Amino acid sequence: MRAKIIGTGSCLPDKTATNEYLSTIVDTSDEWIQSRTGIAERHLVSSETETSLSMATEAGRRALSDAGLDPKDLDLIIVATVSSDFITPSLACMVQRGLGAPHATAFDINAACSGFLFALNTVDAYFQAGIYQNALIIGVETLSKIIDWADRTTCVLFGDGAGAAAVTASEEGMIASLQGSDGSGGDILLCKSRSNNNPYISTSKEPGYLFMDGQEVFKFAVKKEPECILSILEQAGLTVEDVDYFLLHQANYRIISSIARKLKLPLEKFPSNVSHCGNTSAASIPILLDEVNRAGLLSKGDILLLSGFGAGLTWGAALLRW
Ligand code: UT7
Repeated sequence: MRAKIIGTGSCLPDKTATNEYLSTIVDTSDEWIQSRTGIAERHLVSSETETSLSMATEAGRRALSDAGLDPKDLDLIIVATVSSDFITPSLACMVQRGLGAPHATAFDINAACSGFLFALNTVDAYFQAGIYQNALIIGVETLSKIIDWADRTTCVLFGDGAGAAAVTASEEGMIASLQGSDGSGGDILLCKSRSNNNPYISTSKEPGYLFMDGQEVFKFAVKKEPECILSILEQAGLTVEDVDYFLLHQANYRIISSIARKLKLPLEKFPSNVSHCGNTSAASIPILLDEVNRAGLLSKGDILLLSGFGAGLTWGAALLRW
């Protein structure tokens, strides 16, 4: 049995921050941000009660409702995130409690922007092994809390939000999957955790903020993602022409259009929401999938190729029949 997505959901904070607004905080401009990234605005949490947990739970609830699946029928919940509200327990356990899914095993995955794909591939592997039947996968980020809002090289890029997919074990659905990591590139995109405060160590108490060497990540993305796409298609014996939609990690519209160009494909095959969401890391692909699904763009039998890359470094792809 393979993983088949039977419902999608998402949850974005109500509040948006436009490029014009950010240019009142740091030395930037709408022109710079739009021309370098395609981002016009991003959603940001704006109250203490709007959290990774609240967004993840709501996105999950919407995906289950779309699928017509009762939370009590879930036997697996995986949350992909790098910005949980808790070091422990996992966000997935807290979502389980919020949804009322007592029979589910729940845990988190940290694979940055590839996290949703790692989670989907993990669910697919469980299903192929016959271990579970119904899963909920959520990608969620509150990146605004790990951003240095005085650093213009990162603060204009990222946004908050959650996306989810309800998945069931089925004869058809996933066609092929691929994922990988290269820890030697760990330093080009990282966020350190809290410092140790034990009696023997005297370290700085500064909170860790996200650091990114943008140009290095850009080079990695425009090389690795097309390789992933061609490799997963080869695995499945399909070509780029067989794919109805490419749902790529939404980091930068220049990366997406470069990939479309490399593959000699029209941009219409690459739906994008980066202009209004910015980069939401693990949430970006499931938010986009939900938007595309709810817009009625998907027909039964369509071939979708999901692909992403991120900190780690990590990369992943999933080829599936809708
Ligand atoms: O999901 C995680 C994956 N992350 C990504 O995929 C990000 C990949 N990287 C990128 O998308 C691009 O590298 C960026 C959008 C981050 C940066 O674009 P770039 O064309 O590589 O710009 P740059 O870093 O080469 O910076 C060019 C100039 C610099 O000024 P100087 O040194 O030429 O005077 C920067 O200081 O732009 C300056 N700059 C800014 N100016 C206005 C950097 N950030 C800003 C800003 N506003 N926000």
